[in-house]
Amino acid sequence: MKICIIGAGSPYTPELLEKLSEWRDRLPVRELVLMDTDADRLAIMTGFCQRYANALGTDIVIRGTTDRVDAIRDASFINTQIRVGGNRARIQDEKIPLSLGLIGQETTGAGGFAKALRTLPVMVDIARDVRKHAPDAWIVNYTNPTGLVAEAVIRHTGAKIAGLCAGGVFAQHWVGRSMGVAPQSVRYDLAGLNHMNFAYNLTASGRPLTNQEFSAAAREVGPVDPALIETLGALPSPYLQYYLHTTAKVAAMKAAGRTRGEEVLAMEPELFSAFADPAADRKPDLLKKRGGGGYADVAIGFMDAVWNARDSWMVVNVPNGRTLPFLPEDAVIETACLVGADGIRPLPVKDPPMAVRGLIAAVKSYEQLAVEAAMTGCRRTALAALMAHPLVRDGDVARTLLEQLLEANRNWLPLFFGEDAEP
Ligand code: G6P
Repeated sequence: MKICIIGAGSPYTPELLEKLSEWRDRLPVRELVLMDTDADRLAIMTGFCQRYANALGTDIVIRGTTDRVDAIRDASFINTQIRVGGNRARIQDEKIPLSLGLIGQETTGAGGFAKALRTLPVMVDIARDVRKHAPDAWIVNYTNPTGLVAEAVIRHTGAKIAGLCAGGVFAQHWVGRSMGVAPQSVRYDLAGLNHMNFAYNLTASGRPLTNQEFSAAAREVGPVDPALIETLGALPSPYLQYYLHTTAKVAAMKAAGRTRGEEVLAMEPELFSAFADPAADRKPDLLKKRGGGGYADVAIGFMDAVWNARDSWMVVNVPNGRTLPFLPEDAVIETACLVGADGIRPLPVKDPPMAVRGLIAAVKSYEQLAVEAAMTGCRRTALAALMAHPLVRDGDVARTLLEQLLEANRNWLPLFFGEDAEP
């Protein structure tokens, strides 16, 4: 089996190699091709991964290439983890909204919108290459915003894509920790969108949680007030902090002085010089602070489920169909699914709590408009997307915000600034 990683210059790459090596008896990977547009980072990561593979004692052959088609051709799984514009663009996504008093965050609100505009056309291009050069392959995506990426790829290419996020299984861990049981014994209905999901109807080993057990799990969520979680009756994605504590979050982000993107960027020189050290054949300690852990588990879980026809319970971003009756059938949602040889089948769920149904629907409207704007370069649709977003909404602010975001991302938005750009 050949597997490739697009965006392999990312520090997330060694985790995937580690898991592939651990799961070698289940996934017979012969070749792992690392592809990136940044030749320097790619060379560092390829060198490190070759040493790491040796240290792990695996016989997976690793090679690097800057040629995307070379990486994709005849691969069984295409792992995508790109960041168009790098962390510098991410920092602008965080700072511009914040300067207008709005949440400035990588995936949520206006920051996620700017990231979507940069990323979606590139991901659709990659998916077109996959259709051409590896038509049966699955794209295993953790490029953000993963829900919008899945929707754009499905709508524009029909390629097979699993939109993944490590957050889908968080509720298993919260309940597992608070009850002292194995996370795998915990099941729930999970519905909503990426970074806007809710886990409810929770059971542990098939038994529904008592109110007390639910309250204890609610206290594990962290950034959302447990009393609010009890009011909802569902464990929310931690990203709900930006919706349920908006004013406090904006104040905290302003007071922090440094955004998460700035922190990550500051770590990179040290992290990459550790990877580049010709003696380094183990993951550097600093990688723990970089975050993003958990992706490799989800990605490998998906590949194993498909390759070995396991019918695994997983949380994936998939077209809604009839899962949530209050959303369009073609809208990509994040929900619990069975994953097996014939792909991803969303499981039926009860409707999420009334208190968040409108929120989910509003954010989905924003997402569908954002996908359209990203793929057409139409400013009117882009403005409509921001007006639809509950974290922006104010048309006067949205207008200024859009101008600033577009201008800051000029180099990454050929569709908005090309000669044929729509008004
Ligand atoms: C989590 C989220 C991802 C996000 C990442 C950011 O894993 O689920 O959507 O991209 O954190 O991590 P970072 O370390 O870059 O802030």
